Amino acid sequence: MSKKILVLPGDGIGPEIVAEAVKVLEHINSRFKLGLEIDHGLVGGTAYDETGFPLPEESLNKAIAADAILLGAVGGPQWDKLEDRSKRPEQGLLDIRKNLGLFGNLRPAILYPQLADASTLKPEVVSGLDILIVRELTGGIYFGQPRGIRTLENGEREGYNTYVYNESEIRRIGRVAFESAMKRNKKLCSVDKANVLEVTVLWREIMEELSKEYPEVELSHMYVDNAAMQLVRAPKQFDVMVTGNMFGDILSDAAAMLTGSIGMLPSASLDKNNKGMYEPCHGSAPDIAGQGLANPLATILSVAMMLRYSLNEGAAADVIEAAVSKVLDQGLRTGDIFSAGMTRVSTREMGEAVLAAL
Ligand code: NAI
Ligand code: MG
Repeated sequence: MSKKILVLPGDGIGPEIVAEAVKVLEHINSRFKLGLEIDHGLVGGTAYDETGFPLPEESLNKAIAADAILLGAVGGPQWDKLEDRSKRPEQGLLDIRKNLGLFGNLRPAILYPQLADASTLKPEVVSGLDILIVRELTGGIYFGQPRGIRTLENGEREGYNTYVYNESEIRRIGRVAFESAMKRNKKLCSVDKANVLEVTVLWREIMEELSKEYPEVELSHMYVDNAAMQLVRAPKQFDVMVTGNMFGDILSDAAAMLTGSIGMLPSASLDKNNKGMYEPCHGSAPDIAGQGLANPLATILSVAMMLRYSLNEGAAADVIEAAVSKVLDQGLRTGDIFSAGMTRVSTREMGEAVLAAL
């Protein structure tokens, strides 16, 4: 049975970077005879402009029917003034995640040796860095009820959110993390705040319980404040880290920046059957949109993740990652990763170079 891939270019640099990634996907599709059907849809601000909705029903239906989704990015200043939050571009993304149950967010932070000078940290601290942060994406304090801003009897206003995870939510993200650790160096660090927050006392308990099913994985626990410190002090001590939605949001951005190159980092958001949405970690970069300046490699590497995690085509994923490494060896650089002595290339030239390396 042929598999369906939905491509959602989105806003800003989205269409430019996705165009290059789709060329790579099409090449892999014919070379490995995957029989993928590739379809396109609208999401984000451009979708709102055309249909009045950031996630039109047609796109949602296509997303539900797809085996995997490739997304560019959404958002831009022209839509920030929309009063109705449900019409904002970001809502399109949140709606896909929620409707498809994409609770498992995988964010690798890899420092390519060719880009060692891009990091703000000392080379010995980050060289060879290759860690994976697994973040719970559809629960925790970002979604907990009740929430809001209320006025107290004394007239003072108070903002409140609810931090809640049930056992099954913890268990399913834990499983994603242990499975990921099994595919890597079998070291998993669970990050919590179990000294203060009951939610994470339960979190820790469930991780311990799961670890009995994965005796090969070495499980450790760390408080989130220490984890933030350790990520900057000695990030290579980690292999896979697993944490809840808010801690993961913050730690994964910090980890991404250890590599110094926002244009290089892919991500995956998976459901319980490994159906997933794949996208670069960066946003729609409106400041450089439409100028051929954007780095398409994070999106191309997202295609590799799609092949590995949703399509079970690890060999094809390896081939793409090797091609990316090769163009870096050739000294080709977009502006975000440029350094003296290298060859500056455009978005399309970078995409073409990856195709040539393939
Ligand atoms: P951003 O990631 O779009 O841009 C931050 C900086 O990195 C900018 O200077 C940009 O030019 C540069 N940059 C980003 N991607 C690049 C690439 N591939 N190649 C070269 N340079 C790149 O974050 P920012 O500026 O905070 O947000 C811009 C818009 O993107 C906002 O509307 C925001 O809401 C949205 N956004 C969307 C996300 C998504 O679709 N998943 C995630 C983050 C932000
Ligand atoms: Mg974030």
